[in-house]
Amino acid sequence: MRKTWILALVCAAGLSGQSLRQLAEARSVKIGAAVNPMRLNEPAYAETLAREFSQAEPENAMKFGPIHPARDRYNWAPAEAVANFAREHNMALRGHTLVWHQQLAPWVTAGAPSPADLEKILGEHIAAVVGHFAGQVYAWDVVNEAIEKDGSPRKSPWSPVPDYIAKAFRMARAADPKAKLFYNDYDAEGIDAKSDAIYALVKDLKQRGVPIDGVGMQFHITAKPLDTESIAANMKRLTDLGLEVQITELDVRVPLDSSGRPGAADLEAQARVYGQVARTCLKFPRCTAIQTWGVTDKYSWVPGYFKGTGAALLFDREYNPKPAYEAMRAAFGAR
Ligand code: G3I
Repeated sequence: MRKTWILALVCAAGLSGQSLRQLAEARSVKIGAAVNPMRLNEPAYAETLAREFSQAEPENAMKFGPIHPARDRYNWAPAEAVANFAREHNMALRGHTLVWHQQLAPWVTAGAPSPADLEKILGEHIAAVVGHFAGQVYAWDVVNEAIEKDGSPRKSPWSPVPDYIAKAFRMARAADPKAKLFYNDYDAEGIDAKSDAIYALVKDLKQRGVPIDGVGMQFHITAKPLDTESIAANMKRLTDLGLEVQITELDVRVPLDSSGRPGAADLEAQARVYGQVARTCLKFPRCTAIQTWGVTDKYSWVPGYFKGTGAALLFDREYNPKPAYEAMRAAFGAR
């Protein structure tokens, strides 16, 4: 009996000192963060990222507009800075995103290209970008946010290309046979018309032999308690197709007071939601990553978009761990 007690104590002590990255790695789950390369020269940003996260994904640097500003010009350096940081700190590198209706370079649609011209542009872009990072990026968000809330296909600049989603996945596979290829979307975590349409889309792609490996569930959410049964049912039907699911852009926004600070009760509610997300992911061996959309509240996109809310991440503006961080560690086994 005594040995077991000591072992438990040693184990708990070990877990209590482990970072979120270490705890999650022990459960084969990557903990990621969206990264702005311009912040990597800020010591606290770089230290927190390297210590607590095992995956890095450029928040914007690999999007079409930033990386391919002119048809004959690519801007590799910002994304390469994230790739270099990931390599130097033994982190996985995730790519975001090849095909999206936002942040497209103006030249793509200038002159009203024909569907054939668009398809050629799409092919050139994917071959160049996926090819450039082949062997570094382990997983791509190939197509991002192609479905509307009601489940209908989103009208995008790429829509004139017949079957553009399947073509994009095939182009990505041809450029890097090893990278995992994801469809990524938001507001489709539980079972609803949008997630039904995403399920139908990826099931059809699989049945047609289109190379797709997983679905990214963004999880841009509030601190309202989650319907974890509905989320688990959605994860189950996707993983039952043989796909991975990854939580790709997690942030849990809470109200801010006039000085821009969150309330203690809201931070506790946020922590409960982060714990729900982690525990739900852990139910599925094919839920392989939980990625927050940023490292620190200091640089989160949320306050600029959802006015009056923010403080959505695991670390506050001064890089202090928040109750949400401890909730995630507890979900991964820390005492
Ligand atoms: O880099 C330019 C800068 O040169 C220019 O001076 C400045 C003012 O125009 O804009 C800068 O680009 C901004 C970019 O973020 C980098 O800061 C874009 O305007 C701005 O639209 C862009 O916002 C990003 C947004 O996607 C659109 O790409 C957010 O940071 C980013 O957090 C957000 O992330 C998306 C995911 O990619 C997809 N899922 C939803 C998520 C939230 O919208």
